[in-house]
Amino acid sequence: MNIAILSRNPQLYSTQSLFRACRRRGHYVRVIDHMRCQLAILNGSKYIQYQGEILKHIDAVIPRIGSSVTKPGAAVLRQFELQNILSAITTTGLLNARDKLRSLQILSSHKIETVDTIQPELNYRADKIIQLLGGLPVVVKLSEGTHGTGVMLADSKNGLITILETFHNLDQKVLVQKFIKEARGQDLRAIVVNGEVVASMKRKAQPGEFRSNLHRGGTAIHIKLDSSEQKAAIDAANALKLGVAGVDLLQSKNGPLVLEVNPSPGLEGIETITKVDVAGKIVEFLESKIDAHRTLADMIS
Ligand SMILES: Nc1ncnc2c1ncn2[C@@H]1O[C@H](COP(=O)(O)OP(=O)(O)O)[C@@H](O)[C@H]1O
Ligand SMILES: [Mg+2]
Repeated sequence: MNIAILSRNPQLYSTQSLFRACRRRGHYVRVIDHMRCQLAILNGSKYIQYQGEILKHIDAVIPRIGSSVTKPGAAVLRQFELQNILSAITTTGLLNARDKLRSLQILSSHKIETVDTIQPELNYRADKIIQLLGGLPVVVKLSEGTHGTGVMLADSKNGLITILETFHNLDQKVLVQKFIKEARGQDLRAIVVNGEVVASMKRKAQPGEFRSNLHRGGTAIHIKLDSSEQKAAIDAANALKLGVAGVDLLQSKNGPLVLEVNPSPGLEGIETITKVDVAGKIVEFLESKIDAHRTLADMIS
């Protein structure tokens, strides 16, 4: 296949790992910066121009679109999709996952257990929100944050009001969540590829911290998920329409809860810790889809 990795930085571990996996499996591969793609719709036909060249003959793309450029990145990905090019994740999946509220709406409609969440209205009542979420502390998080930034604990009513006011003044949408204290600063990260958990790890926050993100100094160990955790992770990726996803789960006293789903999960931590060739699994997934995709594309073109 002729594969394009959509990435802003060819030096990143994940980009490199995917690049090597494509090469190893005998594909032609290049890295394309999605922010340098010019999208053209001319005389009813769609083109993507990159560094003065009209992109042609690409069979499949592997999007690695960062959360700071979700919207423009999604526009580029959609243009690839509209040209009938296979993608490891759909544009819809990317947009579903990047908005935490939208993800939770979709997950709960699929009867997948999630963390109790409120998006406060303008004239919110802090005491009511705290009560609905089972008491203090509560977690406040940016609706479109990542790497644990913009995720904080409010341990008093006034603390919650101050945080909400601050985010409101910064024009940032936030969610307030029940704090799952029995998770004890730990969560599970499952990588789902093509409806299967291919790698999983448990992440633990550093002392004095409840956010277990590796970017926040968390550490991780390789573990295998039990069947209910596996089901939750697979169902979540499917519900959001993601062929590739990093699903974060919290172990609550009532079983696993889906916390969030990452459409472009980092590969460095999971590959190093589990020794699984996740990048290879992603390329294998494209290989398994390409023939059916080409047949479908021929039928509709
Ligand atoms: N409601 C919660 N209860 C307990 N821990 C939480 C909760 N929400 C987030 N965390 C912790 O904070 C981390 C970051 O939160 P998350 O919602 O995944 O944001 P991000 O998208 O920035 O990673 C999680 O991995 C988890 O360890
Ligand atoms: Mg997270």
